[in-house]
Amino acid sequence: EKGGFASFMDKEIHDQPHAVADTLLGRTDAAGRLVLDDLRIDESVLRSVDKIVVIACGTAAYAGHVAKYAIEHWCRIPVEVELAHEFRYRDPVVGPRTLVVAISQSGETMDTLMAVRHAREQGAKVLAICNTHGSTIPRESDAVLYTHAGPEIAVASTKAFLSQITATYLLGLYLAQLRGNKFPDEIRDILEQLRQMPDKIQQVLDRADHVRATARDMAGTSSVLFLGRHVGFPVALEGALKLKELAYIHAEGFAAGELKHGPIALIEEGQAVFVVVPSPRGRDSLHSKVISNIQEIRARGARTLVIAEDGDDDVLPYADEVFFVPQCPTLLSPLLATVPLQVFACELATARGLDVDQPRNLAKSVTVE
Ligand code: BG6
Repeated sequence: EKGGFASFMDKEIHDQPHAVADTLLGRTDAAGRLVLDDLRIDESVLRSVDKIVVIACGTAAYAGHVAKYAIEHWCRIPVEVELAHEFRYRDPVVGPRTLVVAISQSGETMDTLMAVRHAREQGAKVLAICNTHGSTIPRESDAVLYTHAGPEIAVASTKAFLSQITATYLLGLYLAQLRGNKFPDEIRDILEQLRQMPDKIQQVLDRADHVRATARDMAGTSSVLFLGRHVGFPVALEGALKLKELAYIHAEGFAAGELKHGPIALIEEGQAVFVVVPSPRGRDSLHSKVISNIQEIRARGARTLVIAEDGDDDVLPYADEVFFVPQCPTLLSPLLATVPLQVFACELATARGLDVDQPRNLAKSVTVE
């Protein structure tokens, strides 16, 4: 059932083009307008939403971090992202015009479920983004948008993450369509770009030998840092989480802009640092700022492992290794940049002789608070 792969994790990483394609499937009508049939939430309610709060745990929360950038840009609705267990024990300011989006692969995470109940008690509408039909969180929510990643067996999340990001994009574009924030042509355009992402994810997988060789080479490493900016920031956090979960290596993700405010003190000879570089075709200042960060850490002896867009030659002078990914719009880039980091963690843990499907101390779905 592992389909010829050494682990479920490896199989699920390779399932990602399908997970994203299937999550996009059947969600537009003949005229190219988004139709989210399973949403079961009144359009007038969605039109009146004045704040979105995403609640989730672990990898699912990082999908929420990515969503914030896209939804705020497309819909001009403020989006907060909060760990479910923190939200639950605050006195959050939510009300009938707040849309709470609960993201959960399993639909059974107790922390997230309790936060859903807490939100509904305050009068908020809750929309679940979930991968498991009939699970508790969608049953207790006002509405549900299912991800179609298929069953995820490995404890550490991979394909569910990319499909969660995809689902939040659909939600953002749907809200933009309903509220008239974007012209229909623009929405159709972004959807078309989204439909090209499964092929591009496949290209990243087809080129993954270099990442695997680097991971094997680094099997003895004791600490890896991850830097990213804009949507690359949650990608960095997810890359660090994967490495902790699978390889039991100290790993930390930072916003690249934060480097000079503290983390740069950690840089010493041989410290491995992954850097997720924004597209040079996006906001130019961001690209050059991250290139400067790479320069700064390299000058202090860091081993720089760079994820950059095809054609971005600016990274070459400062990178020990470069993992190129295909070009795509900046907001969609987490669907590509995450993949080498997943492959890296999986391969490095395997090289250390660890069970990547069942990491120590972790459970696939944590059903206690
Ligand atoms: C953790 C899992 O315990 O729960 C993570 O190990 C997962 O992989 C997190 O991201 C949240 O789980 P779920 O099912 O709510 O998405």
